[in-house]
Amino acid sequence: MTIPTYDLHDGHKIPALGFGTAGIRGREGAAIIADAIGAGYRLIDSAFNYDNEGIVGQAIRDGGVDRSELFITSKLPGRYHEAPLARYAVEESLLRMGLDYVDLYLIHWPNPSKDLYVQAWEGLLEAQRDGLIRSVGVSNFKPHHLARIESATGVLPVVNQVELHPFYPQAPLLEHHAQAGIIAEAWSPLGKGTGVLEEAAVTAAAQAHGVSPAQVLLRWHLQRGALPIPKSGNPQRLRQNLAVFDFELSANEVDAITALGREDGRRFDGDPDYHEEY
Ligand code: A2P
Repeated sequence: MTIPTYDLHDGHKIPALGFGTAGIRGREGAAIIADAIGAGYRLIDSAFNYDNEGIVGQAIRDGGVDRSELFITSKLPGRYHEAPLARYAVEESLLRMGLDYVDLYLIHWPNPSKDLYVQAWEGLLEAQRDGLIRSVGVSNFKPHHLARIESATGVLPVVNQVELHPFYPQAPLLEHHAQAGIIAEAWSPLGKGTGVLEEAAVTAAAQAHGVSPAQVLLRWHLQRGALPIPKSGNPQRLRQNLAVFDFELSANEVDAITALGREDGRRFDGDPDYHEEY
């Protein structure tokens, strides 16, 4: 099975769906990630702060797929924003994963109260110039954070990974990103713990297409131009989440799911203007 790709504005391509690894740890976790690679995932999404880059590296070695076929992402922790720490974090990530480059490295959160994310961005751009990172991006950035790094460096991220699911569909942000040529990656694409998989708009579409509610949500992301990175520790479900390229939701089905959005639909109080992670 081949996963379609999106074009990044720096000339690289990214798989349109990836495997999330937050919370997947230990040798058992390495086996799950290697199984995901064997099942067909090519984009593996990790982070320095997931404390699992070591097992991601192990899974890459065990997965039976050439490294050049894989698209590996990690993320810069808040405590490493300041120069030259950002560079050290990238080097540490590479050593933990046993790689000589990473496909995509993101600033994990802007942490605006520290006001160091422009330095972090400059550090990632330097690591990119030196060949440690292929593509540079951000996570949990709002348009005003994006404008700030663009005005400081002239470079916009290729990707912004944000909370995105039917209870928090972020239509204005998706529109902004489409205009700017930024791919929106969805974290918590299945709305973990929110009950969205049981919503009638989702279950009705699932029944109509003979697929699961989770597959409907993944399709909803793809048809909105977003890039979902579902996590599953279960061999059947991780395979099911890949089987979303042979059916299509109608525009009405997409709209009915988007209409589940709520002003306060975030999974927790993760407003990037206030929520900070280090
Ligand atoms: P599990 O690991 O037991 O499969 P999100 O990616 O939105 O954070 O959601 C992850 C959660 O969704 C995990 O708890 C995962 O549980 C569950 N999940 C993943 N894939 C599916 C699926 N196809 N159907 C139902 N639940 C799923």
